[in-house]
Amino acid sequence: MTLRISVIGTGYLGATHAACMAELGYEVIGLDVNAEKLQALSAGILPFHEPGLPELLRKHVASGRLRFTDSYEEVAQRADIHFVTVGTPQRADSQSADMSYVDAAVDSLVANISGEALIVGKSTVPVGTARRLSERIEATAKPGSKISLAWNPEFLREGFAVKDTLTPDRLVYGIQDDTCLAKLREVYAPILALDTPEVVTDLETSELVKVAANAFLATKISFINAFAEVTETVGGDIKTLADAIGHDARIGRKFLNAGVGFGGGCLPKDIRALQARVSELGLSQTMGFLDEVDQINLRRRDRVVSLASSILGNQLAGKRICVLGVTFKPDSDDVRDSPALDIAVRLYNSGAEVSVYDPEGNKNAAGRFPRLNYVESWREAAKESDLVLLLTEWKEFRALDPQELGEVVSSRVLIDGRNVLDRPLWRDQGWVMTGPGEKFDL
Ligand code: UGA
Repeated sequence: MTLRISVIGTGYLGATHAACMAELGYEVIGLDVNAEKLQALSAGILPFHEPGLPELLRKHVASGRLRFTDSYEEVAQRADIHFVTVGTPQRADSQSADMSYVDAAVDSLVANISGEALIVGKSTVPVGTARRLSERIEATAKPGSKISLAWNPEFLREGFAVKDTLTPDRLVYGIQDDTCLAKLREVYAPILALDTPEVVTDLETSELVKVAANAFLATKISFINAFAEVTETVGGDIKTLADAIGHDARIGRKFLNAGVGFGGGCLPKDIRALQARVSELGLSQTMGFLDEVDQINLRRRDRVVSLASSILGNQLAGKRICVLGVTFKPDSDDVRDSPALDIAVRLYNSGAEVSVYDPEGNKNAAGRFPRLNYVESWREAAKESDLVLLLTEWKEFRALDPQELGEVVSSRVLIDGRNVLDRPLWRDQGWVMTGPGEKFDL
């Protein structure tokens, strides 16, 4: 019999998971409380940018294998395996994660399940959450129902969400008994058939694997950005440094690109939530280095703002600045905690006229900060600008022609915030430019 799966929460992770489960051949129902999102998804329209996902969504909505609802009752009737993929954002009043959506999703499922079911948590949660939920389920499940809980963290990257879901580096499940394991193996059978490594463990380890992975990645980025601060002062070449240490297989070259720092809906909030959680556990010093990782990261933004200001004679009022890229990374329209948007806003608040172009991010950025001048092309953004900032390394910006861009600006001055442009080529065309890790003397 075809597996019947539900996915609770159709944000970034949930929409991807639902479409990919349908691609594996299952009957899938996605639940969300946001009516606008449901309407779009039910019409086969993806409400955010993710390469390859619109095609999957359209295909499976059209075939009837993938549907959406706002009813827990319907979900409980139509599925036996329920993936919880709701958000765990940073709380407004602290660094911890807000667990209210996860708790509400599990409570609503439990209130509607009468038979046998498996709930699989995928959201990124503070360690101890799954155990707590498991006890809660036991205490509140309807008489006669049999509900198990497993945890199955997700490691997908925005921009590669479909690939990372269908061909992940590994599958991790935290389980409490062999029945859960058998069900998860059935769900993931087509992926396991590709020789995907499988890690079977307890609930706590599975929760920690997720935050450990993100904390490690964040630390790696801040590590190289700390060295960028050194080379910015003493001279030296940060890319060569990263290449040289990256040749050591124990270190590896990935995630050693100095830049404007990490942003997005995951890395920044996950390192803060981890630090908050271990402090709650009485281990306030244990993850203290993550505060430092966060501080180094935020200093990258300060550096670009002060560099821009000194390049423009410490007088930003009335200066025209062109910002290329506002998303937190390319191939995404996500501007959550985006270093690029933060820098653009800070320059605007200091009096500069800021024109912004991003291939996909203008709309979301305007939703958060409408006062910047959002335009539809790099050419328009750069028109008569005194300074160009490249802050997100979209392919379109990597391919920019120094001569073409030079023709529209007032002044050939550029900060390459992601170190992606070929310095000699651009300098040959009369550009004054600098980037992360570069010692720059005016
Ligand atoms: C991250 C993790 O990479 C995923 O494995 C994880 O599943 C996801 O969070 C999550 O928890 O859901 P994502 O937020 O999509 O994925 O973005 P990353 O590709 O990790 O990039 C994060 C930030 O680091 C971006 O702002 C990027 O520009 C920056 N970065 C990345 C650097 O500044 N330098 C680098 O060398 C690499």
